[in-house]
Amino acid sequence: MRVVVAESGDAAGRVAADMVERFIGDSVSPALGLATGETMQAVFSELVRRHRENGLSFAGVHAFLLDEYLDLDRHDPCAYRNVAHRVLARHVDIGPGAVHGPNAQADDLDAECARYEREVRDAGIGLQLLGIGCNGHIAFNEPGSPLASTTRVVALSDRTRADNARFFPDGQPVPDRAITQGIATVGAAGELVLLACGEHKADAVARAVEGPVTPGLPASAIQLHANVTVVLDPPAASGLGCPRVAPAPRGSDEGMLIGPAGDI
Ligand code: GLP
Repeated sequence: MRVVVAESGDAAGRVAADMVERFIGDSVSPALGLATGETMQAVFSELVRRHRENGLSFAGVHAFLLDEYLDLDRHDPCAYRNVAHRVLARHVDIGPGAVHGPNAQADDLDAECARYEREVRDAGIGLQLLGIGCNGHIAFNEPGSPLASTTRVVALSDRTRADNARFFPDGQPVPDRAITQGIATVGAAGELVLLACGEHKADAVARAVEGPVTPGLPASAIQLHANVTVVLDPPAASGLGCPRVAPAPRGSDEGMLIGPAGDI
């Protein structure tokens, strides 16, 4: 596992954008896993800037959402499919229909979960962006999710609903269920890039990176993956044990690379 501590949230976004840009440039038919949430905004803003100013092209990219709320109108601005369009897709040259996600309006949700699991597995995600919830969730895999879980309907915890209420207009309740890729689905990606910013993420980050691998902290499953980069700002890194300083990753001039697990 590589842990990069960048000097700020924006710098962390640039480190993750570097990795996305390299992945797109190196792949014939890139399948990119997208996360949503506030942390990803810095990554998407930087990718949009590079598209506008440097000609970074998303023409051949297929993007796959990690999760989606249930019980929202399909046009609801808070639906992750619409968020992905608003923050990234509509600003770049990604093809029409190239952003994929679970259909939260499907009549048979179990069948839809199975369909999306197949779609994601068949695509073979090359690089998966991940955020982390304050309770250690990845995608919408809440504490207690089996490490072998696949795409399914889940109940959202009170903590997650409270944390995400800031994205919803006053008076609109946060849905209490969602479709999410499972922990095993996420783990099947070729490379994971987990991004976290802010002191409120420090405890979850420390437990994900240095604690035991346990369904009680779903993000700890990243320790089982052979190719993981955790990109942090200093407050999000503040709970990590005494880090070992190592050179920054090739091609990156942002931040330092540390190996708290001693296994870089
Ligand atoms: C949401 C999403 C996750 C995301 C996480 C962090 O609940 N389902 O995929 O990683 O919360 O979000 P934020 O970056 O807004 O803290």
